[in-house]
Amino acid sequence: MTAASDTAETLLAELPPAAAVWCSGLRKRYKRRTAVDDVSFTVRRGEVLGLLGPNGAGKTTVIKMLLGLVRPDAGEVLLLGRPARDPKARARVGYLPELFRYQPWLTATEVLDLHVRLAGAAIPDAERRGCLALVGLADRAGDRVGGFSKGMQQRLGLAVALVARPEFVVLDEPTSALDPLGRADVRDLLLSLRAKGVAVLLNSHLIGEVERVCDRVVILDKGRIAASGSLAELLGQRELRLRLDEVGAAAEARLAAAGKLTRDGDAFTVALGDEVAVPDLVADLVGLGVRVHAVEPGRISLEERLLDILRTGNTEEPA
Ligand SMILES: Nc1ncnc2c1ncn2[C@@H]1O[C@H](COP(=O)(O)OP(=O)(O)OP(=O)(O)O)[C@@H](O)[C@H]1O
Ligand SMILES: [Mg+2]
Repeated sequence: MTAASDTAETLLAELPPAAAVWCSGLRKRYKRRTAVDDVSFTVRRGEVLGLLGPNGAGKTTVIKMLLGLVRPDAGEVLLLGRPARDPKARARVGYLPELFRYQPWLTATEVLDLHVRLAGAAIPDAERRGCLALVGLADRAGDRVGGFSKGMQQRLGLAVALVARPEFVVLDEPTSALDPLGRADVRDLLLSLRAKGVAVLLNSHLIGEVERVCDRVVILDKGRIAASGSLAELLGQRELRLRLDEVGAAAEARLAAAGKLTRDGDAFTVALGDEVAVPDLVADLVGLGVRVHAVEPGRISLEERLLDILRTGNTEEPA
């Protein structure tokens, strides 16, 4: 290696890793129908990004363009810093498609082995078995997938997406067929991926699920981005709901100092300012002779916010 390329290698190695995926100005038409129109966003390393929107909004089409499975009419994609069709990028991505069928005559273990070979990865047998155990299929490893239930096929799809140690995982409705326990497992799984620095793009109609695991959200509607941002940005301020009695003037003033105060009988709601410590507020109230029956943190749910955005196009940050 020459000194110059040596220096270039060192310089490159010192750069922060490229985003998991970056896209800009993506557009796709099917005949005269525009499926995706001017979509741009980034999934950073170690981040879980939720992709939301009604049926037909273009979520799956966006995902397929990010992965080089559908050719955009316009726009650019960088997958792990490379063109989406570059096999080097694809080998480091795990993908659970929306609709899939594995060869019904293969066993679960054989399906995983096939995908490990396709990814060109060296994954020890024990780790492959661990991956099946992770999705709850340890005792069905030797069974043919033709006899699997819908949820079991989806679990196997998850194992396939995770088995080759991906740096970026794309899940198109991973829990649509799963039972509640399976959904909770997937949630834990996503959080453990994030803890390992793996980036995740999650498309789901289960908004509570997205709210619990996603750092940021992109909302698509009719092919366009209707809103995007962190949950804090989309959902606005925290509020605190309290049930109190024996509230004197001093206590009411203390509450009002914590944030905008509304009162309905013994129910008080405070839109909390940034710096307010809830335990201090409660201690002060007790010190002022207030009897505290309930203290409940809250803010509008992502579901309420999503419906608001889709129905009214109101993308203003809530007050
Ligand atoms: N292969 C295709 N040929 C023709 N039209 C297509 C094709 N794929 C998608 N579309 C159209 O593009 C639009 C977006 O579809 P897409 O599958 O991306 O939606 P989605 O947001 O994933 O919806 P869902 O929540 O139902 O999965 C729809 O109007 C759909 O009919
Ligand atoms: Mg879809």
